[in-house]
Amino acid sequence: MVSNDGVPRLAAQADGAVGRRAVLRAGAWVGAAATAAGAVAAQSVVEAEATSAAFDPGDWGSVRREFALRPDYAHFAAFMLASPPRSVREAIAFFRDRLDSSPADFHMGVADLEYSGRAQAALARYTGAMPGEIALTDSATMGIGLVYGGLRLKPGDEVLTTPHEFYSTHESLRLRASAHGVRVRQVPLYADPATASAEEMTDRLRRAVTGRTRVVALTWVHSSTGVKVPIRAVSDAIARINARRGERERILLCVDGVHGFAAEDVDIPDLGADFFMASTHKWLFGPRGTGFVWGRPSAWPRVDTVIPSFSVPAFTGWLTGRPPVGDPGTLNTPGGYHSFENRWALPEAVAFQEAIGRSRVAERIRSQVARLKEGLAGLPAVRVVTPRSAEVSAGIVCCEVEGVDGEQVVGRLHDEHRIAAGTTPYRESYVRFGPSVVTDDDEVDRLVRAMATFR
Ligand SMILES: Cc1ncc(COP(=O)(O)O)c(C=O)c1O
Repeated sequence: MVSNDGVPRLAAQADGAVGRRAVLRAGAWVGAAATAAGAVAAQSVVEAEATSAAFDPGDWGSVRREFALRPDYAHFAAFMLASPPRSVREAIAFFRDRLDSSPADFHMGVADLEYSGRAQAALARYTGAMPGEIALTDSATMGIGLVYGGLRLKPGDEVLTTPHEFYSTHESLRLRASAHGVRVRQVPLYADPATASAEEMTDRLRRAVTGRTRVVALTWVHSSTGVKVPIRAVSDAIARINARRGERERILLCVDGVHGFAAEDVDIPDLGADFFMASTHKWLFGPRGTGFVWGRPSAWPRVDTVIPSFSVPAFTGWLTGRPPVGDPGTLNTPGGYHSFENRWALPEAVAFQEAIGRSRVAERIRSQVARLKEGLAGLPAVRVVTPRSAEVSAGIVCCEVEGVDGEQVVGRLHDEHRIAAGTTPYRESYVRFGPSVVTDDDEVDRLVRAMATFR
């Protein structure tokens, strides 16, 4: 049903309408969404082009100037809760202002169908996946909760994970285990992160799999140590085990990819995992409150939808009394109203990264990380915890200073050297740095000199 002003009346559709009439109403709803979104989007593109004229993605100085980050500080913690570049800030402001001044233009949020579709398409382009394989979330944690909460598991089934995971994975699995009798078992992948190797990690994991293991829950890049798990090698090892199993016993590999995504130059499906959860408000420098789950088409049917989507197939199913038929990414995108201005600005963050180039970004991070590790390795009071090799590390560098508490190190870097860093929020805590597109070699050298003052 569409009112005189063209705004679809979703609430009125609950009046018992079923069958063809209801489907037609859902069709009208989609049509209204397309019209509303088209009108606003045309303006958006015009404004974005006008404001980004001075940006040269080939020049790292120009890239840095796109950020509102204080220029007098070196930002080695920017990857944690990213500050978005100008084009993203402008897109957020554009949508926020229009939502604030005339929310009816967005047809009670129905315009989200169009804009979320654009966000899915942008992420698909960037990750090398298909749009319908991607569910949009508000964070990595939301995606982790949706996957581990929704996996079809029976009492006695086992989830194999590690002690190296972040809170979000451990807690999602604990909640799942206590509710459904699912067994969660941990295997350490390394004793000392500094000497972790791809072979050791793959081997330890492979040997810990039992006949009851149905899910392997890992993190690509550990935020506790900076260790990068060889996901491709692990997925190959699991594939060999799966080749000897029936469909129901197949192991799913689920990965919290948050600190590898947009830091490593990889197409996500090529990692070989079944599910990949990440946020886009970290290394992608996207809007706060954005993220996604990518699922392999063969794996999505093994997850039950936890939060109903506000999608056309889901609403159509509700109106017709039939199960929704649609792509899994859309059906598993949690519904309800979101901070739409942020989600709708996500394609700008992808476009910003694409303009620079995914491989150039990864190389920029890798070269600074190598420089930083080399500098820190020469300091007698500093012990670098992250392995040296790029095969088993990415953009995170963790270390400790002999006799000085991590928080004190971070405080002094901030107050005395104008360097922003952080500590890891784990039982065993380290000082943590993340060189990125907003830092450069000079700042890396400044950081090493600052670290040299701790004796
Ligand atoms: C490994 C890891 N996973 C997940 C998260 C949480 O990400 P989000 O804030 O997007 O939920 C963090 C840190 O914030 C993390 O370090």
